[in-house]
Amino acid sequence: MHYYIITGASRGLGKALAEEALKQPDTSVLGVSRHATITHERYQHQPLDLSDMLAVQNNLYKLFPARPDATSLTLINNAGVLGEIGYVGELPNEHFEFVFDVNVVAPAMLMNTFLSAYGSQTSIPRTILNISSGAAQRPIDGWGAYGASKAALDALTRTAQKEQDLRSSGIRLRSLSPGVVDTAMQEHIRTADEQDFSEATRFSGLYSEGQLAQPEVTAGKILAWLHRPTTNGEEIVLRIDSI
Ligand SMILES: NC(=O)c1ccc[n+]([C@@H]2O[C@H](COP(=O)([O-])OP(=O)(O)OC[C@H]3O[C@@H](n4cnc5c(N)ncnc54)[C@H](OP(=O)(O)O)[C@@H]3O)[C@@H](O)[C@H]2O)c1
Repeated sequence: MHYYIITGASRGLGKALAEEALKQPDTSVLGVSRHATITHERYQHQPLDLSDMLAVQNNLYKLFPARPDATSLTLINNAGVLGEIGYVGELPNEHFEFVFDVNVVAPAMLMNTFLSAYGSQTSIPRTILNISSGAAQRPIDGWGAYGASKAALDALTRTAQKEQDLRSSGIRLRSLSPGVVDTAMQEHIRTADEQDFSEATRFSGLYSEGQLAQPEVTAGKILAWLHRPTTNGEEIVLRIDSI
């Protein structure tokens, strides 16, 4: 059985990734988010609030049980939040903690536990894919915590891949910017004021001009890439148009 653990599987890109994975008959998906929206005989759901660190720590063991029959194991850290859109200096301090908890601390704990639980299953492909953002690479005003959190996720991915290479574990870690995708996160972006986010008009234009990708299309590209063997010298931090 090919096992996937996908966070944020209740809607948007995560739901599309779970549904795309389930199209393969020999695949089982464990979705992790606050709400459950997928009904499928090979889908299991773990309700979890990834901003509640105590709940994450107490439930981690449920996400990574022994899988002796696994033919592959894949963790997709997809859940992410933008949080309140606004400038540093004009936000409640809790905002930074919330965004970093969901976007960095929880994914780091899931990566840590995945590597610890499945590190010894050396005969099968094991992959961790962290969903990042172009905001990690360029400053987008109003998205400070979000961009910084995704940059941290990229750095963690690079470091953990180096460590796994030094251990010769064969485990593949990547982070991937999915491009602009037509999801609730983009709806949230379109509610922002130009004075809190100078690109508000540009992002509304992307939507009205039909330039957002549909989640199913992006998920299809990501799953097709995951199914292909790794190419030599592949970058660790990837963009959707480079896979
Ligand atoms: N959409 C884009 O244009 C875009 C661009 C670049 C990067 N991304 C990245 O792509 C990923 C998916 O984004 P999306 O656009 O699909 O977002 P979305 O539509 O807002 O969906 C977010 C998912 O994350 C889950 N989630 C949010 N807060 C959570 C929490 N506290 N605990 C557990 N789960 C939580 C949600 O589930 P529940 O509400 O059920 O908990 C939902 O399933 C994110 O990492 C995002 O940063 C998106």
